[in-house]
Formats: sequence, C-alpha cells, structure tokens
Amino acid sequence: MTTFDFRRDAMAMTSLERAEAAEHAMSQELDRIVVKSAIYTSGERDPRQPLPPQQSQGKLYMMGHDPRLPLMPEKPTLFDFFKLRFGPSAHVLQSARLARKNGVGEKIVLGCLLHDISAMGFIRGDHGYWGAQLVEPYVDEEVSWAIRHHQVLRFFPDEAYGYKYPDSYIRLFGADYQPEPHIQEAHRRAREHKWYESSRLITVNDLYSFDPNVKVELEEFTDVVGRHFRQPKEGLGFDQSPSAHMWRTINHPTKYL
Ligand SMILES: [Fe+2]
Ligand SMILES: [Fe+2]
Repeated sequence: MTTFDFRRDAMAMTSLERAEAAEHAMSQELDRIVVKSAIYTSGERDPRQPLPPQQSQGKLYMMGHDPRLPLMPEKPTLFDFFKLRFGPSAHVLQSARLARKNGVGEKIVLGCLLHDISAMGFIRGDHGYWGAQLVEPYVDEEVSWAIRHHQVLRFFPDEAYGYKYPDSYIRLFGADYQPEPHIQEAHRRAREHKWYESSRLITVNDLYSFDPNVKVELEEFTDVVGRHFRQPKEGLGFDQSPSAHMWRTINHPTKYL
C-alpha cells in the first residue's frame, strides 16, 4: 500500500489495518532527512550540544509531509486532527459525554471535548495553556479561558462543585506534591474571574479514569463543534490565524524549518 492509499483509506480502515499501513510506510526508506526539533529531545539530550552528524547521502531535508504519518487533507478540520494526529481520545470524548449528561451548556461540552488536545497531540507540559492557544481563534473567549485554567484548577478542590483533589494525582505526583507558586497564583486569580465556573465544570467532568468498554464516537459532537468551533475555510493551519502555525506543526512535526 502506498502512502497515497494510506491517506485515501485512513478513515475506512480498522485500527489494525491502520497500524499495519503505518508500519509499512515507516519501513520504507524515507527519501528525506528527518530532524526532530530540540523540544522533542531536550532532556533526553542536552539541547546545547550539536546534533549528531547526519549521513545525507544526497538526500534533502524534510520540508513537508512525513510519510510515516497519514497524510492530512489539504484543508484539515478539527476532526481530521482528532483522527489523523491526536493520540487516543477516549478520555476527552467520555468527559464531553459526561458533561452533556450533567446538563452543562454546549460551550462547556466543547471545552471538555478539547480540554486535553495539547497533551494528546502537541505538548504535555502546561497543556491547558497550549491547548487554549490552539483553539483561541476558533472558539468563544469563555471556552479558551476555561480550557487554559482547567489545568490549574485540577490541583485545587472545590467542595461547592463536589470537586475533590484527584486520587490519580496522588498516585502520579506523590502525596506531598505542591503546585508551584505561579500555579497557586493562577488559581487565586481564576477564583475571582467571571468564568471560574466554566473552567471548574471542565474539571468536574474531567474523568479520572475512563471506561475502556464505553466507545464514544467523535460524531456524537458534530453538532456542538459545528455550532461553537469556527472551522476556517482554508483548513486548520492555513488560515493565517495567530495559532495556525501550531496546527501546522502538529500536521508536519518533522519539518526542518
Ligand atoms: Fe487536562
Ligand atoms: Fe482531562
């Protein structure tokens, strides 16, 4: 199967077929030299050190699509990113379904659907802030504000909303973990904000553990996304918005420049 076929059939294939196709594409020799950005490797290596010399053998450097990944449509939508670039989305899908079941407004359902997209497909550290920036040009300010602050609010219980400090955070970070001072301050400020509740509702519906037997389809939220996410006609990444470059980086993560 060629890379082109992979694109055409990506939606129709089962996950096993997709995995096999990806493996096949990966095993083919790349005709471009791939360099990972420092941020992908910093920590594993000291970013101040020069990169090991590449054997170029006449090859050019990657300047666009990486054939080890499924090809995105020319005008990618939010759902294309979910299906072709983001990691498993059961957590956000189940959180959005729970939010809807709990009767929150559609904007909060959208916030729940998008709240962890940075951790799923871009950058984990400070994922609330990165995620908010990704979607900021396309959603109401309240939604991006809520996504930005959910990361901070997760560390602080609020009994008024029945929100407890997550047990999973004790397992992940230890019982004595204390958020850094700038997170404490962000929490104090968020408490005073008119949209505090919107962000708090994301944390309330942020499932700690999702049920592997429950399958929620992305299409369950087509209507909410259609009404509250302003999909650019040029496609995410190609619309000159302040975050277009971030979507392009997710689309083409190994581009040299
Ligand atoms: Fe999160
Ligand atoms: Fe989450």
